[in-house]
Amino acid sequence: MPSQRILEILKSDSCPQACDISPLPIPPGVPALECLDLRFSYHDGVEAVAGVGFQVKAGEAVALCGPNGSGKTTLLKLLTGLLQPQSGTIRLAGRELKGDNAGQAFRSVGLLFQDSQDQLFCNNVLEDVSFGLKNLGLESSEVQARASLALHLAEAEHLKGRPIHHLSGGEMKRVALAGLIDMRTTVIILDEPTAGLDPAATGHLMELVQHLHRDHGYALLVVTHEMDLVPRLADRVLVMREGRVVADGPSRQVLTDVPLLEGARLKPPEITKYFFQKALQEGRRPEWLPLSVEEALLPGKAGRNGHP
Ligand SMILES: Nc1ncnc2c1ncn2[C@@H]1O[C@H](COP(=O)(O)OP(=O)(O)OP(=O)(O)O)[C@@H](O)[C@H]1O
Ligand SMILES: [Mg+2]
Repeated sequence: MPSQRILEILKSDSCPQACDISPLPIPPGVPALECLDLRFSYHDGVEAVAGVGFQVKAGEAVALCGPNGSGKTTLLKLLTGLLQPQSGTIRLAGRELKGDNAGQAFRSVGLLFQDSQDQLFCNNVLEDVSFGLKNLGLESSEVQARASLALHLAEAEHLKGRPIHHLSGGEMKRVALAGLIDMRTTVIILDEPTAGLDPAATGHLMELVQHLHRDHGYALLVVTHEMDLVPRLADRVLVMREGRVVADGPSRQVLTDVPLLEGARLKPPEITKYFFQKALQEGRRPEWLPLSVEEALLPGKAGRNGHP
């Protein structure tokens, strides 16, 4: 069920009504994204990705966490065809991404760049949000409807006539997100999407991403340092360290493994850390730890430290 704000946007008079927003379908059982033993070194010899393999199933939401310089952005660039691995395999919706078709990756996977200035290159907002759609060869009425819906959903409709170089950082992020979601790719990849956003914009981005995932079945891969957001965004967490994936498991398992996270220079969500430290202070072994304030408030859960 979409949030109240998303419902309001979808029902507003100016929002195109008869516009499908579902992602491109993929055959049953085929992973949305798959990589195998990926390796990539920059020219100066830095091995940024040192043998990475994992899958993201259709409709799955995965968070990718790791300290600065651990290779997250490099990995995302490999997965979206912006960089080519020195070895290893990438499959998008079952189709292998190779040198000759790397330029076609944008049909199956979309990346929200860590820095929006690297993403937006047209002069004006509407032009930028429509650019990828025109490249798909869509009719102009379809381009218009999709771009308009995406701008509404990203709360950027009011910016559509503005020159890109006049936008604030947060506004650029919203415009970049609109240009990404209107492509309806099977997988949406977000590289630190909330960095630089104010709390209201962060809340809205979370609602929109949850809407795309839960109500429309988009597969997500989200890089974030904001550990409090991870349980809301993802069912599964990958932890990267020095170019390798050192943990891959359900969010609850990874986010409550405080020693593992600290070893990777990460922290659990604040509320999880509070209950972990409280249990240690009281000389108990923490058995069940909440991942959010809502979970901590569930009757008979964190207070009694019992299993869910
Ligand atoms: N263009 C480049 N040329 C050379 N080395 C690079 C380049 N881009 C990144 N690196 C190096 O590759 C490693 C991984 O960088 P990357 O940007 O992938 O890390 P990250 O996990 O995304 O970090 P952050 O959390 O700071 O965004 C780092 O050691 C970085 O210095
Ligand atoms: Mg990065």
